[in-house]
Amino acid sequence: MKIHYSLTATMLAVAAVLFVASCAGTPEVKVDVHGLRPNQLTEQDLVPAMTEYIGKTPGDQEKLVRSFEQQPPLVPHKVDGYRIDLKVNRCLECHEKPFYKEEKAPKIGDSHYKDREGKVLDKISMGRYNCNQCHVPQANAQPLVSNTFQPIKTGN
Ligand code: HEC
Ligand code: HEC
Repeated sequence: MKIHYSLTATMLAVAAVLFVASCAGTPEVKVDVHGLRPNQLTEQDLVPAMTEYIGKTPGDQEKLVRSFEQQPPLVPHKVDGYRIDLKVNRCLECHEKPFYKEEKAPKIGDSHYKDREGKVLDKISMGRYNCNQCHVPQANAQPLVSNTFQPIKTGN
């Protein structure tokens, strides 16, 4: 029982010291933790800088070299205002079968007209409807995390 008593006494003493210390004012927490965000963990978040995309209106852009086989080609032109929703898909109005020749746009890949089982469809597969999920416009942005990726040499 003696041991138990002295343990309780010690805990009470520690609690008293902590109470006095906390009455002396909130101690400043000093941390130096950075994530991918430029500011400290304890600071308010900064508004990220606006990203400038490099492409202009479709028609005069060079296609971007692919980095690996089966890569969804990167979008070389701007995509601002090209709506994709339930009723409208602006991308299809240039890249789909009846329009691509007149628009001088690359035709959508044949793979986009197949379902998961490989059955050929009349219309583009709904799994491919949200183009920007795979095809992305480009900006001159530095990678947030450095890496050693090398593109294949024979990109088309
Ligand atoms: C006004 C017509 C037009 C619209 C709308 C349009 N594109 Fe394009 N797209 C083009 C043309 C033309 C090119 C050929 C490069 C160039 O001249 O910009 C192209 C090139 C591309 C390429 C490169 C293909 C390759 O083989 O390298 C991709 C990917 C692409 N567009 C995706 C999209 C997506 C996604 C959207 C919708 C967000 C879209 N495009 C909307 C006309 C259009
Ligand atoms: C799930 C991912 C995915 C989605 C969604 C998707 N694509 Fe693709 N796309 C690819 C891949 C991967 C390729 C390259 C291989 C191929 O042609 O299948 C490609 C190729 C292309 C090409 C080049 C075809 C060629 O013959 O070089 C065009 C143009 C294109 N896509 C346009 C579109 C448009 C427009 C949409 C939206 C209506 C779209 N894609 C949706 C993955 C996708």
